[in-house]
Amino acid sequence: NAAEKGGYEHFMLKEMYEQPKAITDTFSPRIKEGKIVIDELNMSDEEIKAIKKIMIVACGSAYHTGVTSKYILEGLARIPVEVDLASEFRYRDPLLEEGTLVIIVSQSGETADSLAALREAKARGAKVLGIVNVVGSSIAREADNVMYTWAGPEIAVATTKAYTAQLIAEYLLAMKFAYVRGKLNDAELAALIDDMRKLPAQVEMLLNNKQKIQKFANRYLAAKDIFFIGRGIDYAISLEGSLKLKEISYIHSEAYAAGELKHGTISLIEEGTLVAAVLTQEELYKKMISNMVEVKTRGAFVLAVTNTENTEVEKAADYVIYIPKTNKYFTNSLAIIPLQLFGYYVSIGRGCDVDKPRNLAKSVTVE
Ligand code: G6P
Repeated sequence: NAAEKGGYEHFMLKEMYEQPKAITDTFSPRIKEGKIVIDELNMSDEEIKAIKKIMIVACGSAYHTGVTSKYILEGLARIPVEVDLASEFRYRDPLLEEGTLVIIVSQSGETADSLAALREAKARGAKVLGIVNVVGSSIAREADNVMYTWAGPEIAVATTKAYTAQLIAEYLLAMKFAYVRGKLNDAELAALIDDMRKLPAQVEMLLNNKQKIQKFANRYLAAKDIFFIGRGIDYAISLEGSLKLKEISYIHSEAYAAGELKHGTISLIEEGTLVAAVLTQEELYKKMISNMVEVKTRGAFVLAVTNTENTEVEKAADYVIYIPKTNKYFTNSLAIIPLQLFGYYVSIGRGCDVDKPRNLAKSVTVE
């Protein structure tokens, strides 16, 4: 009812607006005197140093946070990371050598495949860490360690604030592991913490820009296909942006690692096809711009989501959404906001039931 939605038209919009708080609540209790302290993480520094490999296993958007985290854990902590869908992991006779840490990410803590993956990993002797939003849920109870995301209850089927909080928990973990393993010094850690403290206000600012996105979204209500492209972390953002759009608007969309376009997807570009290009990684700008030019030449309308005012981007795009500056690892938390808003406005513009899309459940507890 209206009171539960706190004055917002839909739960999804309300929950998007709760993201700054979800970020703060997830990180602030874990930063003490300039260090990352994850009390509930029952791992000594020796155990953290002994990790040889991390496997992140999850479903849906939680899986997408794992794809992002692979870049961050490998980049910051230099630990090899594999990311797998729970429904694949559990049936593929996974190799869990000594020293493998399995991380199960789940908002509900009840997703059947994720819970089965947890049990499989434990049965094979791996140590399992759960990153979970619902306190006391099955995954939280059965994992060896649980790190909670403090996003609060999420009602809309399409996750927003829980996804955002998962990213923060995973950043903290990567920073902690990197620091303990000597890959980050005090000054570098302090700079990352500083950037993290800025995220809530930056997200707020992006949310307040919603009218601009709504106007843009209204032009695409009749789209047949929409493509999302990016490289590195921007590919991970594209996966989530594409899922948000398709699950609530019923418009077909696909996320592509931009370098793969030439291997198939580019043949689908027609006059007017919308391609959302995410570019937040400086070392990949040039490569991304050439992909944008490639699709534009074939008639695509290119929407760029980027963090740098750059004339080359402006030339290669038809429409540009700027996100504020942060370090290269945290850009997902900002770039996803306009993409969530885009999905939301396309959905309501088409008259879809944005909070309860057809055929979907908030928590998939049966297979
Ligand atoms: C469903 C939800 C998604 C969620 C996925 C995994 O598909 O609609 O939003 O990402 O399940 O759920 P979990 O609770 O394990 O994060």
